[in-house]
Amino acid sequence: MLRQWRMGGAKSGKVFAVDNPSTLVEVAICPEFDEKDTEAAIKRAQEAFVSFRKTQPRVRARLLRRWYELMIENADDLARIITWENGKPLADSKTEVNYAAGFLASNPSCRIITQKEPVGVCGLIIPWNFPAAMITRKAGPALAAGCTVVVKAPAEAPLTALALAELADRAGFPKGVVNIIAALENTVAVGKVLTTHPIVKKVSFTGSTRVGKLLMNQCSSTLKKVSFELGGNAPFIVFEDADLDIALRGLIASKFRISGQTCVCANRILVHRKVYDKFVSMVVDTVEKFEVGDGMAETTTHGPLIHGLAVAKVDDHVKDAVAKGARVVHGGKRLSLGTNFFGITVLADMKPGMKICSEETFGPVAAFFPFDNEQEAIDMANDSEVGLAGYFFSKDLSRCWRVAEALEVGMVGVNVGAISDPVAPFGGVKQSGFGREGSKYGIDEFVVTKMIMTGIE
Ligand code: SIN
Repeated sequence: MLRQWRMGGAKSGKVFAVDNPSTLVEVAICPEFDEKDTEAAIKRAQEAFVSFRKTQPRVRARLLRRWYELMIENADDLARIITWENGKPLADSKTEVNYAAGFLASNPSCRIITQKEPVGVCGLIIPWNFPAAMITRKAGPALAAGCTVVVKAPAEAPLTALALAELADRAGFPKGVVNIIAALENTVAVGKVLTTHPIVKKVSFTGSTRVGKLLMNQCSSTLKKVSFELGGNAPFIVFEDADLDIALRGLIASKFRISGQTCVCANRILVHRKVYDKFVSMVVDTVEKFEVGDGMAETTTHGPLIHGLAVAKVDDHVKDAVAKGARVVHGGKRLSLGTNFFGITVLADMKPGMKICSEETFGPVAAFFPFDNEQEAIDMANDSEVGLAGYFFSKDLSRCWRVAEALEVGMVGVNVGAISDPVAPFGGVKQSGFGREGSKYGIDEFVVTKMIMTGIE
């Protein structure tokens, strides 16, 4: 009977019996771990991850190889344990030990090929801020893989989707390959069908983290393949050694693109105290020249927000920051141009605890936080539940690598503020979602890998 285990016991000291399913004889007792033990294990894994992720691949290869060798050396004992607790014949247990070891250092004797197949019918749920690009970013790779698509057009901007469908038709796609569903009142109901219908095999969604969680829950009913490109709260760091003209260009490109309504817009602008005042006044000098107005007017550089709710959110973020001690350096108010217009705004003296620190503003508000050293800036940048894009500006090459690797985001702009490009993989980490769009990685989201093994004996 196995009574001695080298693993630590449960904090509670509890144990449970493991019986041989064949003889019903108790073969061992095992620690009964609980929630606290599990949390402690997660904490240890997180602590170890900090350094293990940086080990050289050859070091990890050596460890895996040694683990493999030890499994083979101890194959008889391992097989006996498997049979004791699982009941399978000893010969099967020995086979399993070899199979298990194979995942650590494989030596296959068959010939295996893999092929990529289209996942099937895809539900593509599109946001209003890029009503053309978000369709082609999803539909392009889906169609290239051989999938057919049902596109839920954004209620706020459905016309572009219909126009693109017309052009797809003219391009010669067979009937039924590209389908558009436009809905306003029925948005939730349509989303429910796309995320629960058994024929739909893949859902790709761009939108808020809140809605992404709901949709993911719905997709779980039929275990769909999913990719979610959700909210961000991008940090934009200007170090003391940055070229401030380049940083200014980057900030204007990132922060004020379509009046701040993209999920990769800079939301928290962190500037080293040595260059803080200078950089803020450079930004003010630039935004003073912006022309806010109707998008059809030639002189307009920045248009309205999408609707009243968006304006109310921006207004709320500004008021919250001011109430907690921020200084309005420029703008800060709704504009009399129309109900959906909010003035280009610059806020200084931002502090932790303001709504902008934890919520995506999605509007034309540049919020400046001072910092004193590199680690402080990294900690501030990473202090977020989401991690889509991050930007920083520095002329120090070592710092560039250090900070790029330390930022907890899916995309980093180093000395550049415009990072969206069809050939670059777009996507986030943390609660910004998962999956990548664009580039060669984008197509992986729309295929499944089939394995075909041929015995050669
Ligand atoms: C988005 O805001 O969802 C997309 C932004 C981009 O493609 O740059």
